[in-house]
Amino acid sequence: MKIKSAEFVISNSNVAKCPTTKIPEYAFIGRSNVGKSSLINALVERKSLAKTSGKPGKTQLINHFIINKEWFLVDLPGYGYARVSKSDKKTFQKFITNYFEQREQLVCAFVLVDSRHEPQKIDLEFMEWLATNGIPFSIVFTKSDKLNKTTLPKNIESYKMKMLEIWEDMPPYLITSSSSKMGCDEVLTYIDKLNADFKD
Ligand code: GTP
Ligand code: MG
Repeated sequence: MKIKSAEFVISNSNVAKCPTTKIPEYAFIGRSNVGKSSLINALVERKSLAKTSGKPGKTQLINHFIINKEWFLVDLPGYGYARVSKSDKKTFQKFITNYFEQREQLVCAFVLVDSRHEPQKIDLEFMEWLATNGIPFSIVFTKSDKLNKTTLPKNIESYKMKMLEIWEDMPPYLITSSSSKMGCDEVLTYIDKLNADFKD
């Protein structure tokens, strides 16, 4: 898929105020600092469409971007950021869960996990929560440029093994890097296919 346009639409913490246009939507979720905002920028080839930072906790709201005037990419705040106060965490969690529970045009949630790390409890629990709520998701491994050719497939394989202890099948997954652009075309092709299904 070719990206012809990518524009910021709106930021808010209330799902009721998200755009009402009934077009397919894809949300990026995962631990703080995993690379959600960076991957959005890499996909649409815009350096700072979504705000990124070396420090976790940069994205604080639900951010809608309209791509090719046909579909939305949504950048969400990360979970699992230790330095956020307990009450802030609750508010955060509430509007994120509201978003997933209420956003009918959400076609797929991309759950980003750092390809360098072993499966984290918080990610596994979140995926289970999505499944329990009937929300389709795919796993996106990030920062693959930080691993060498032998460690990357080894890590993916051990992630799969862990998933298969819990799940009957490995959910669909993609391996990416915002720095090297690995997997970016695959993510866009994946979205393109889902967009076509949305029309049917
Ligand atoms: P929050 O908004 O805080 O939840 O974080 P985020 O998940 O949006 O992460 P963000 O995109 O802001 O990136 C966090 C840090 O990781 C930044 O310093 C990025 O430059 C770096 N980063 C993101 N993706 C990659 C990648 O593919 N490769 C490398 N080497 N660094 C990356
Ligand atoms: Mg972010």
